[in-house]
Amino acid sequence: MKRVLSGIQPSGQLTMGNYIGAIQNFVKLQHEHECFFMVVDLHAITVPQDPEALREQTESVAALYIAAGIDPNKAAIFLQSQVPQHAELGWLLTTLTYMGELERMTQFKDKSEGKESVGAGLFVYPSLMAADILLYNADLVPVGDDQKQHLELTRDIANRFNHRFGDYFTVPATYTPEVGARIMSLDDASKKMSKSNPNAGSYIALLDDPAVIRKKISRAKTDSEAVVKYDPVNKPEVSNLLSIYSHAAGVPIAEIEAKYEGQMYGPFKKDLAEQVAALIEPLQARYHEVRRTGEHHEVLRRGAERAREVAEKTLDEVKRRMGFVLPQ
Ligand code: TYM
Repeated sequence: MKRVLSGIQPSGQLTMGNYIGAIQNFVKLQHEHECFFMVVDLHAITVPQDPEALREQTESVAALYIAAGIDPNKAAIFLQSQVPQHAELGWLLTTLTYMGELERMTQFKDKSEGKESVGAGLFVYPSLMAADILLYNADLVPVGDDQKQHLELTRDIANRFNHRFGDYFTVPATYTPEVGARIMSLDDASKKMSKSNPNAGSYIALLDDPAVIRKKISRAKTDSEAVVKYDPVNKPEVSNLLSIYSHAAGVPIAEIEAKYEGQMYGPFKKDLAEQVAALIEPLQARYHEVRRTGEHHEVLRRGAERAREVAEKTLDEVKRRMGFVLPQ
């Protein structure tokens, strides 16, 4: 059994990108491994957040975890800010991270580009992410492609610590889906599907009304070839829709290609919309039930307790190795 850890920022509506790139693997991995899944609220505040909206979105992501099928009896579900060891180890690891490494992070470059003032938190964000992972000595980190660079840095920081203070941290591996590790926008297949895109037609939000989802998919960009074929280089839009179809329906891409051989895009898109709706409708029903009953509060309380048990031990050991005087 391996240790698995991952997290999602509560910084807006979760999309099919988050679902396919991350959540679907969370659900899968919980059956075989010891899992920790958190809502990374401390990361969300690296860009300005309205306090009320942050609270609402944090609860929403926690409820979505449960609604998507993460079983709180199998995996610990918790809020990053309720386990104070994250912030503390984050600081310790910041002192082991080089400016040059942080400057090379593409997510930092993207998020800071063109901004007049950029918060220091956005810059040191990857050290906190390294702390999230190393605190649990996680073996596997299920994420989408866009987080691979942060994982590389986490491995470098782990190795650096191990070299200076003696072998202690597990050097984690990235776990990404074979296809769909980068779900693209519906209107522009050169950009990843993102909750922060101002054009809502570019993404499928997990809490979108199914009628809206059907409309978004019917308007999704394709090409003029009318061949349903997976070819990300020459047919990026259709390949993206094929990835979404494959994950929503749980069938291999080759099977979908065969099904629509010789057909135009119309029937393919119509069925895709139905597959996505069939996935999302029960998820939404469960989500609203969780929000109504408030059952996620108890789940988060238990999850944080479990996470703290592990985190406390790691932090003590790290501080001991680094030369801090621990309470006697
Ligand atoms: P975040 O909140 O941006 O995204 C959450 C997860 O969803 C994946 N993802 C996608 N996958 C495929 N296609 C897309 N279009 C797409 N958009 C998002 C992301 O890769 C991610 O797995 N830094 C992280 C959060 C984090 C974390 C951690 C993750 C903080 N600490 C520790 C793992 C371990 C982030 O901003 O993800």
